[in-house]
Amino acid sequence: MKINEIIFTITESLDGGYEASAVGHSIYTQSENYNDLPAILRDAVKCHFDEDKTPSIIRMRNSNIILRYIKESDIADYVKWTTTETEWMDWDAPWEDDEDDFVEMQKQNLEKEQNFYSKLEIETIEGEHIGWVSNYDFDFEGEKVTGVGLDIPAPEHRGRGYGGVALAAYMAHLFAKEDVLFTQTWSGNAPMLRLAEKLGFAEVRRIKNLRQVRGEIYDALTFAISKTDFLTNTRNP
Ligand SMILES: CC(C)(COP(=O)(O)OP(=O)(O)OC[C@H]1O[C@@H](n2cnc3c(N)ncnc32)[C@H](O)[C@@H]1OP(=O)(O)O)[C@@H](O)C(=O)NCCC(=O)NCCS
Repeated sequence: MKINEIIFTITESLDGGYEASAVGHSIYTQSENYNDLPAILRDAVKCHFDEDKTPSIIRMRNSNIILRYIKESDIADYVKWTTTETEWMDWDAPWEDDEDDFVEMQKQNLEKEQNFYSKLEIETIEGEHIGWVSNYDFDFEGEKVTGVGLDIPAPEHRGRGYGGVALAAYMAHLFAKEDVLFTQTWSGNAPMLRLAEKLGFAEVRRIKNLRQVRGEIYDALTFAISKTDFLTNTRNP
């Protein structure tokens, strides 16, 4: 069967340059610089498919962002985001104010650091570090499952499509080893609910009135999406 379009997700490699992997196909390639990527991807696609089955459209999924490993200059951003510019915490699990939990979570993150599948930083094409995508394990109906999350701490970077593109690119990577991905939020987080909907997530659990945030009671929500549904969701950013 001929497919029309093939999508690559791009990440910055640890040793400089960029890594590109095709969503749903075992095509992987690298480039030293971003501008050479389109030509390199075209060649990789040509080699992979028979001539009459070569897709005519090649898309690079994170066209306005890059997902990359953490680097030293990010530390200053994290200091800012955990000390002075903390508005994002009002949205990301605002009921989690236990310092011990926070320290434990940071320790787990440190252990996972530099693991391609655990946490990646979001950078704009202009080179600004604007947030991160990450995953974590949790129990869902007696099974250990993988949840994905993301944060864009500065409000001026939100609502421009970065979050959707970053999460879709990250999920495409995780689906190389997962069959189902989950995400969790609360009923007061409208942007995250919208994002989950756009990415094709379906609600799989709602615990009513579980979260109290600034005096109001909200539902705790869990969403899931299968690899097949993700790969065939034509609304993916
Ligand atoms: C959630 C978050 C990561 C989304 O990132 P983003 O870059 O703003 O996401 P996008 O721009 O790709 O998409 C956001 C969508 O929500 C919509 N949205 C924003 N505010 C909204 C509101 N109050 N009500 C309904 N929809 C809203 C946007 O219009 C957009 O949808 P559209 O593409 O149909 O226009 C970002 O808002 C954030 O970091 N918030 C603070 C931390 C947080 O909540 N993290 C998630 C924890 S579960």
